[in-house]
Amino acid sequence: MNHVLRERKPHHPADTPRHPVPTEPLERRTLPTALAEEIIGTATEIAVTIDSMSDSSARICHTLTDPGLLDLVDEHAAALPEALRGALRPPATSAGATVITGLPLHDTDLGPTPRDWREAAAWSVERRGASLRLDIAMLLLARCAGEPFGWQGQQGGRLVNNIVPSPGHEHEQSGASSTTLLCPHTEDAFHPRRANLLMLGCLRNPDRVGTTVSSVRQVSLDEGQRRLLGEARLPIVPDVSYGNDFDRHPAVPIATVGAGDDGPTLRYDPAYTPLDAADDEFRSAYEHLGDELERVCRTAVLAPGELLLVDNDVVVHGRVPFAPRYDGTDRWLKRVNVRLPHRRRPAAEAAENGYGQHTVTPFQARIDRCVRPTKIHIRHRGTEDPT
Ligand SMILES: [Fe+2]
Repeated sequence: MNHVLRERKPHHPADTPRHPVPTEPLERRTLPTALAEEIIGTATEIAVTIDSMSDSSARICHTLTDPGLLDLVDEHAAALPEALRGALRPPATSAGATVITGLPLHDTDLGPTPRDWREAAAWSVERRGASLRLDIAMLLLARCAGEPFGWQGQQGGRLVNNIVPSPGHEHEQSGASSTTLLCPHTEDAFHPRRANLLMLGCLRNPDRVGTTVSSVRQVSLDEGQRRLLGEARLPIVPDVSYGNDFDRHPAVPIATVGAGDDGPTLRYDPAYTPLDAADDEFRSAYEHLGDELERVCRTAVLAPGELLLVDNDVVVHGRVPFAPRYDGTDRWLKRVNVRLPHRRRPAAEAAENGYGQHTVTPFQARIDRCVRPTKIHIRHRGTEDPT
């Protein structure tokens, strides 16, 4: 199946809304200074240990999937204070997103913002420094939240992705874009193994570029719209960052709005959804959902050292347009996908092919071993997250 829409619908979340907008601020959590310093100190200690592993250190830094590094991350994450796991619990409000503040960062330590993810990964190998320490800090934080994982087809399978504006990608619907609106979407909506939590860490954001979040738990849908959107009518195909080599996999219709244990869930990416194939009634419900997501949209302007936790089962995220600088001072985020081992997905998702895209899950076996004894206590309506 071909990409159906190369560009997401170009509307701006700051456009005048037709209904009152929720006014309460996004949930914020502040890491105590001593805890934040302990995280960075632990990441630095691990980085020093990696440096001493002269035979394999370059490989470790490139993808961050080396078993030796995973052992270090597991061991040190387990020793970090329990309060950190509390700070990294999933967002607690219906907005489904939380800003975590307090990580100490010094701009002068970071070096220039790389021009693309390849350069960022290469610099982690060649230069080490603050970027690598923050990669490790992000892994520690993500490990405290759940299971960090990557994608074979995205950024070389690296567990910590670098999000920077890249020349030639300004108008793309991907994290490498800049001058176009990155429209609200579920991260990796096309895949049954998509993240439960998305963790975005800000290294640099000099132009105060906003990240948008919209929660399905704050939208208004009538009974008919909810029923239509709960039916598996249309597929979502992989986004442009995964390339185009997925035509041999049959497109699988999926439900847009689901029923989770705690409220509605969402799987939404209109740019990669063939809406023209739907009837008028479904299109109308889908467009109403888009309007509602726009109405409830909040904008988080991340400062260096802040993390945005996004519940990817509940919230769609995007980014407002901005002018790239390409002078080494550009916006720079680090992104980690996190699976929550106890969270369930609908049974129907287990049969999806994921368009041949595979996750990189070096932590999975050790985490599932740890959580197995508690599974019998969990009430659920769905099944295990498919493997
Ligand atoms: Fe995204």
